[in-house]
Amino acid sequence: MKKILIIGCGSLGYSIVQVFKSKKKKILVVENNKSNFDLLKKESGKYFSVFRNLKEIKWDDIKYLMICVKPKDIHHLLNILKDYINKSTTIISFVAGIKLKTIKTNLGLKNRVIRFMPNLSIKYGQSITAVYSNNIVSKEKIKISDYFGFFGTIVWLKKEEDIDFFTAFFGGGPAYISLILEHLQNILKKRQIKEIDSNILVLKLLENTLNYIKKEKISFLGLIKRVASKGGTTQQGLDFLKKRSQLNLLLSTAIKKAELQSVKMSKKKD
Ligand SMILES: NC(=O)c1ccc[n+]([C@@H]2O[C@H](COP(=O)([O-])OP(=O)(O)OC[C@H]3O[C@@H](n4cnc5c(N)ncnc54)[C@H](OP(=O)(O)O)[C@@H]3O)[C@@H](O)[C@H]2O)c1
Repeated sequence: MKKILIIGCGSLGYSIVQVFKSKKKKILVVENNKSNFDLLKKESGKYFSVFRNLKEIKWDDIKYLMICVKPKDIHHLLNILKDYINKSTTIISFVAGIKLKTIKTNLGLKNRVIRFMPNLSIKYGQSITAVYSNNIVSKEKIKISDYFGFFGTIVWLKKEEDIDFFTAFFGGGPAYISLILEHLQNILKKRQIKEIDSNILVLKLLENTLNYIKKEKISFLGLIKRVASKGGTTQQGLDFLKKRSQLNLLLSTAIKKAELQSVKMSKKKD
């Protein structure tokens, strides 16, 4: 049977293992770090097996090899991998900022290589994951999207540079949304409505809004139109936020800054 192997099982790798387990899919793990290894060993069983050494793997069985080590460790790993990896194994790199060209050059083999960039919701199989490769035909893309569909939503990118934008938008997205929610929570707190938990109320506001949009099958603008009547209360607030497109400018500048930082960091790592 063709197997999936993950090398490096720290923060991201562990989340990936959790999704495999929750979907009852089998996975093999190679982990260097002694304390991570010991923890994984205790949890291993029917759905995953953990090893400390690449020598222990039956490489002919590996269909997908997922690399989840830190950027500083990938060059060394690729150097060792060339002695083990089978030519039919597809390499999936989760390593931020390391380009396909660098991986292929360091590996020195003709294996198919794909880059995956998930966000933190991968832990619950709800990640929006950017995927890029430059030598994959459409039929194969469909197969990969189907296979890794349990990660959440898979988005194939046309250009490798778009990974930087994706990292800024979907990687950072949960933090930007949380910041806005935190501001709303602070406003609520200041009104000292003590008997209610501001955290729970703001969370409910978010859930209810998303639920309404989904159930009514309307756009964000569609919802805004339903809430804001001309000359009404919400319209006053919206007019202020839209003045000189301030909110739009703030958000697009924040994401642009994050994207540029991702480009800068990639250049350093490559
Ligand atoms: N964390 C995220 O949410 C996230 C999101 C998107 C992308 N990424 C990317 O995912 C990669 C991993 O990030 P992370 O936060 O999970 O890092 P991490 O917590 O440091 O985990 C990496 C693990 O890999 C182990 N390792 C290193 N070299 C190895 C080797 N040759 N064989 C086996 N195990 C090895 C490390 O052991 P030692 O501690 O002994 O070195 C460590 O336990 C990074 O490249 C990052 O850019 C992470």
